[in-house]
Amino acid sequence: MVLSCLRDALPSMSAPSITNRPRKILVTSALPYANGPIHLGHLVEYIQTDIWVRFQKMQGHECWFVCADDAHGTPIMLRAEADGVTPLELIERMHAEHTRDFANFGVAFDNFHSTHTEENRVLSEEIFRRLDAAGHIARRTIKQLYDPERRMFLPDRFVKGNCPNCGAEDQYGDNCEVCGSTYEPTELVKPYSVVSGATPVEKDSEQLFFKVEDFRDFLEGWFAEGRTQAEIANKQKELFAEELFQWDISRNAPYWGFEIPGEKDKYFYVWLDAPIGYLASFRNLCDREGIDFDEFLGPDSSAEMIHFIGKDIARFHTLFWPAELKGAGYRTPTAVWCHGFLTVNGQKMSKSRGTFIMAETYHRHLDPEYLRYYFAAKLDNGIDDIDLSLDDFRARVNSDLVGKLVNIASRCAGFIGKSFGGQLAAELPEPAMYAEFVVALDGVADDYENRRYSKAVRDVMALADRANQYIDAAKPWVLIRDENEQQTVQGICTQGLNLFRVLMTLLKPVLPATAEKAEAFLNIPPLTWDSPREPLLDHAINRFRPLLTRVEEKPIEAMLEETREAREAQQKRATGPLADDPLAAEITIDDFAKVDLRVARVENAEKVEGSDKLLRLTLDLGGEQRNVFAGIQSAYDPADLVGRHVVMVANLAPRKMRFGLSEGMVLAAGDGGSDLFVLSPDEGAKPGTRVR
Ligand code: MSP
Ligand code: ZN
Repeated sequence: MVLSCLRDALPSMSAPSITNRPRKILVTSALPYANGPIHLGHLVEYIQTDIWVRFQKMQGHECWFVCADDAHGTPIMLRAEADGVTPLELIERMHAEHTRDFANFGVAFDNFHSTHTEENRVLSEEIFRRLDAAGHIARRTIKQLYDPERRMFLPDRFVKGNCPNCGAEDQYGDNCEVCGSTYEPTELVKPYSVVSGATPVEKDSEQLFFKVEDFRDFLEGWFAEGRTQAEIANKQKELFAEELFQWDISRNAPYWGFEIPGEKDKYFYVWLDAPIGYLASFRNLCDREGIDFDEFLGPDSSAEMIHFIGKDIARFHTLFWPAELKGAGYRTPTAVWCHGFLTVNGQKMSKSRGTFIMAETYHRHLDPEYLRYYFAAKLDNGIDDIDLSLDDFRARVNSDLVGKLVNIASRCAGFIGKSFGGQLAAELPEPAMYAEFVVALDGVADDYENRRYSKAVRDVMALADRANQYIDAAKPWVLIRDENEQQTVQGICTQGLNLFRVLMTLLKPVLPATAEKAEAFLNIPPLTWDSPREPLLDHAINRFRPLLTRVEEKPIEAMLEETREAREAQQKRATGPLADDPLAAEITIDDFAKVDLRVARVENAEKVEGSDKLLRLTLDLGGEQRNVFAGIQSAYDPADLVGRHVVMVANLAPRKMRFGLSEGMVLAAGDGGSDLFVLSPDEGAKPGTRVR
């Protein structure tokens, strides 16, 4: 009997594999900043993590994958201001965009939350209070650069000036991109604030610090347990030669974040509440799904907690974060796995070269499965950068996925459909060969587990070559013409489709959408890691439809072209750190129709006491009066505006401001300062007329 001999040929079939140990695992990817879109560099990480999580779930483990938007910090506050929206509006829009992008690329979080949430505020305050109560928080006064015009302290990236070392102009406050030297922002020559252009002054203020040194012994132990890659551990451990520094966890108002309890006008630095966002997202998921939070996070938890991050944020995750958790009485991370950075065509992703490709742009032109496959083929467990070479991408996807993998199915499916009514044979003609494919489940499982995806993919493709060689040698297209060989053909194709089924299982973590199509075509329930341990025999399959098509050159070109165009459009818009942002998201004509634009007449205009920016305008909308605060004081003498016709957004939700209620918005062009021009319709347009 074929089946029993197949079992004998499968030594590993009943041997215990990792499948037999039920695990509870909490997995995270780093939280993307809510001030910009997801790009292909980000996707390296989200896809790497997603593959790992999908693999664990296929093994039957209880694995939860959480993430969130990182929604706080100065860049988000300023970005919102530049866009003329509130930070809340900005982060809500980004949350929707990020959610869409992740779904498009098959990144299947169990929860995608935000750091600007009640769960996160509660947890951040609690962790801070516990650290403070245990004496791990220090308070002292330090000097920082302050923008006297904007009345705010300036983060390093928001001060520019001449490099103190080589004199290069327009360098950031932390390091010089020309000579590579690092320095304090106070050392810059001719410094200026990126926010207002003003010359910053030094100003004293008290700040709160987390005493990392208190956790020296714990951290040394944590590193010694191999909880991150050796390169990362060695780099962080360089700091252990001296007393570990105190980490500034507070920021002065104005700041967009959580206020520190018990302090006045002080906020948690975004990097304090960001990793806590992992827990907040999980907490939110637990509340929804009835999962026991403490079982995963309690100090004695036997569950695993694994963070996937880029190597640029290793310090936050391998020093501060484990120490914070330890100090606050939580469990500490099982592992923090770092990956390298994405380069495109051998160079750093670059706006000017047009290789800073957004997820959405890629998705408009190319199938996300290709990118998942290509990244998997390049990723291993190290921290080297990985390169997306677009020629290689096309060649590799076409040869591996289309030429090898899908080819097996398409070569066999036709015969089964046409000549055998979609029915697979009752026996495999080559059970020993099938058994060898099944053995690969264990080796490839080990590779996924240890993040050696490139090796997993290589091994699967070697098997795909063997499957194709088998079909080449068996020549079903010749045998089908011989009446006496019909059963042989059915056997060959049954063998081929079963080999394909093993390969599809092995690649399912990488190619979830393709696997789903294959499951539909094979007429089987979702594949788990163990499904192929029994072959699929005497079973009716469905009609074959192409699972993946070839990558052509045209859509790649179109994607690059669109990237270049977006770059040019955006370059015209802004300079400074905000220049990194693309244009606002595209809207439909229906979206636009929601904006009620009206002609209005300025009845009265006056300076707002206590504001150097705002004018209070009284607008006549053809019988109805509105009070509107407009930030145009720098460009207009109020008297010149009275009697003038302007264009206003009449259906904007009223906004409560410090000086009163603003009931609309007046349209103006320009970047601010004296560069501001209020839009006026030609004479004759009556107040209240709709503008379209
Ligand atoms: N908000 C922080 C993370 C907070 S985690 C508590 C942050 N955000 S990010 O949007 O800049 O980056 C998110 C992740 O994407 C990081 O792990 C980062 O390393 C990764 N990548 C961003 N650009 C990347 C490439 N070009 N290549 C590979 N990974 C990259 O950092
Ligand atoms: Zn320099």
